[in-house]
Amino acid sequence: MTTTPGILVALDVPTATEALDLARRLGDQVTGFKVGLELLMGPGPGVVAAVRELDRPVFVDAKLHDIPVTVERAARRLGRLGARWLTVHALGGDDMVRAAVEGLRSEHADGGVIAVTVLTSLDEAMLARVIGSGSVGRQVARLASLAAAAGAEGVVCSVAELGVVAQAAPRLVRVTPGIRPAGTENDDQARVATPAEAVRRGSDLLVVGRPVTHAADPQAALAEIVAQVRRAADTLHDGPEE
Ligand code: C5P
Repeated sequence: MTTTPGILVALDVPTATEALDLARRLGDQVTGFKVGLELLMGPGPGVVAAVRELDRPVFVDAKLHDIPVTVERAARRLGRLGARWLTVHALGGDDMVRAAVEGLRSEHADGGVIAVTVLTSLDEAMLARVIGSGSVGRQVARLASLAAAAGAEGVVCSVAELGVVAQAAPRLVRVTPGIRPAGTENDDQARVATPAEAVRRGSDLLVVGRPVTHAADPQAALAEIVAQVRRAADTLHDGPEE
């Protein structure tokens, strides 16, 4: 039996009411919900506890990047609110990632830190302007090894770098945003892939936002993505059909 990869729906909406309404409508189809900066900076971190009450694990996409002690304290607070997963930027360094793990676990024994490698909105040209090198793959591999050594449970990367991560840090959970079913808009994402490609290349958790939240019928859009993920996982398990 292979495990079918999970789906995290990004609740990128401005208010807690909208987030909770959406989560209630989609809850039985998802592995968990992602609470990101829009909700954390709008209604505030209390929304993590409110979403948690819906009985689905919450992925807090705070993308922390600060000195270790500050990150440790923030992670502790988010763990207390019920964060099952918490993102930090691997670029903060191994001491910072380790501090996040300690802070989160002090409040949530099953909590795991997920380190962001290279944002899926960056392409090679922009990465070169940011860090002076344009090799996304090399950067992702280095940051994934660093995150693994510092105790992270997983990393965020684009589907294109799944192979690189599997090689550099095989035990990490691989979380992939930038998921776009065929025929939908890329929006501001630069490195996108379909749900089936994400599964074929080894994603463990697919993050889906706008293709569901901006759809005319979010439940139907999610159901279609879930079906595509299942089909791709079954094909992977049984081998391609004749
Ligand atoms: O709407 P869309 O499907 O593009 O949403 C992707 C979500 O994943 C957003 O909430 C975004 O903040 C997040 N994310 C990302 N790229 C990363 C890390 C997180 O797009 N590298």
